[in-house]
Amino acid sequence: MLLPFAKIIRSEEETIKIAGNFARLLKPGDVVILTGNLGSGKTFFVRYAVKQFGIDSVSSPTFAIVNEYDGSMKIYHFDFYRIKNSAELFDIGFNDYLNDSEAVSFIEWGEMFPEMLPGTRYEVDIILYENLSRAIAIKKNKPIKIAIRK
Ligand SMILES: Nc1ncnc2c1ncn2[C@@H]1O[C@H](COP(=O)(O)OP(=O)(O)OP(=O)(O)O)[C@@H](O)[C@H]1O
Ligand SMILES: [Mg+2]
Repeated sequence: MLLPFAKIIRSEEETIKIAGNFARLLKPGDVVILTGNLGSGKTFFVRYAVKQFGIDSVSSPTFAIVNEYDGSMKIYHFDFYRIKNSAELFDIGFNDYLNDSEAVSFIEWGEMFPEMLPGTRYEVDIILYENLSRAIAIKKNKPIKIAIRK
């Protein structure tokens, strides 16, 4: 898969294929945030992405805040939806999860606490339209380097 990626999606099968292709780019230590309205398919995308690592049991982490999976890759799957402030994230040791260089972290609603995210991360944006088609856009976000001319 070449990034940035963008496509209009009209079936679950298309999302499944894109999620699988995306997962092949992932390396231990990577962080992936997923944005998109309620029911747009963030959990669905993670479920089919981590199938690449032999994991078949992904459920939504909305209530648990984080679910952990062990396949050919260790996976942390977060959902910020119910988090009220970044102090709650410190309390669950969010930074320790992210600093686990052997795991890939997926974060639904990650844009809610941008200050908690590493500058380098993948961003999966899903839009669910009224006609039930979807748009999926994926890019790699890198910290902006500011060149200072002397
Ligand atoms: N093309 C598609 N891609 C993804 N999901 C689809 C598609 N077509 C239908 N769906 C359905 O849409 C639903 C998406 O639900 P999902 O829980 O993944 O959304 P979500 O973005 O994680 O929601 P939330 O914001 O509540 O966490 C699933 O029931 C899935 O079967
Ligand atoms: Mg979800």
